[in-house]
Amino acid sequence: MATDSAHRCDRIWTNARLATMAAAGSVERGMIAAKDGRIVHAGPVDTRYDAPELIDCDGRWITPGLIDCHSHLVHAGNRAHEFELRLEGASYEDIARGGGGIVSTMAATRIADEDTLVAYALERLDTLIAEGMTTIEVKSGYGLSTEAEVKMLRAARRLGSERNVRVVTTFLGAHALPPEFSGNADGYIDLVCNDMIPAVAAEGLADAVDAFCEGIGFTPGQVSRVFEAARMHGLPVKLHAEQLSNLHGATLAASFDALSADHLEHLDAVGIDAMAKAGSVAVLLPGAYYFTRETQLPPVAGLREAGVPIALATDCNPGTSPLTSLLLTMNMGATLFRLTVEECLAGVTREAARALGLLGETGTLEPGKSCDLAIWDVERPAELVYRMGANPLHARVWKGL
Ligand code: NIG
Ligand code: FE
Repeated sequence: MATDSAHRCDRIWTNARLATMAAAGSVERGMIAAKDGRIVHAGPVDTRYDAPELIDCDGRWITPGLIDCHSHLVHAGNRAHEFELRLEGASYEDIARGGGGIVSTMAATRIADEDTLVAYALERLDTLIAEGMTTIEVKSGYGLSTEAEVKMLRAARRLGSERNVRVVTTFLGAHALPPEFSGNADGYIDLVCNDMIPAVAAEGLADAVDAFCEGIGFTPGQVSRVFEAARMHGLPVKLHAEQLSNLHGATLAASFDALSADHLEHLDAVGIDAMAKAGSVAVLLPGAYYFTRETQLPPVAGLREAGVPIALATDCNPGTSPLTSLLLTMNMGATLFRLTVEECLAGVTREAARALGLLGETGTLEPGKSCDLAIWDVERPAELVYRMGANPLHARVWKGL
């Protein structure tokens, strides 16, 4: 039977079960056809499609390639010593106020050159890729000077050419106060707004702007100035909000139409409502909750009720979440936050794509999207959330290859 041109494509994965994470739901006898790196069919087996390459999936499950929508992947050094101090009773905030924390990673990151930062980040990136991750967001925020922030973002961009992965970058200059600005946080925010953001925007190094709104970070007023500068440069914003206390950062972020507000353990009903109205995604970070032994749970029921989309991410960073597994992140989302399997899977696919403003490009198995797939040796998708420390990835596909 001759195939008409509408059904001719480059590659077909057949005899698969699909978790489309889209309106089509799950498909038992499914097939994906790709052409020029894009999905042209994701649904029941359709024999009208033909391709030079036909891959029999033997009944394996296919999900969208996984997405890590919040990471601090680029950094030097580690904070194992601070981990030991915390085991002896010191708190994360005590350590930060004593000159450790983010500032200690800043010191290590400032002295590392770009190649070194890329090499360190690649180790972590490869671990995530080995679990079917195809898109990652990477933040700056350990340079805290124009030169070092630019270096971090260049390193982050380079990751996207070193591996078959989509890298989205975020400028996080307002992450902590560098020691040379001690006692002058407003002066540092001037530098962030008037020097760093213009420099980063001029080189096209950032896709979004983030900040840390917290007692040990920056005030809502300071964050607001950073967001105004981002807006002037046409950059969308997101925020580390309500992690350790409630400074109403999520409401502020929502007033700037933030892509997401992240952490959110201390989020209240007003913040939930503001996020729902703005369409901002709640990015929950169970690795940080676990590793800092937080006890305040994010308001999952309230978020659900208000229809705020929920994403999950590693928050991979040396201080609060040295985590390089999206599978374990899902397990923690279910076990610690009581998210359903469906919510966990959506959290590292569709909702993570939404949090990055990439839902038109990836995050579900639908025609028109980039053909980003994870093919799994599991009997049912719940196994991806249920196991701890196993990696049932059979194959990973990015942009159809
Ligand atoms: O997402 N909260 C602020 N930033 C990171 C921690 C950074 C660090 O401790 O190095 C976070 O938890
Ligand atoms: Fe973070």
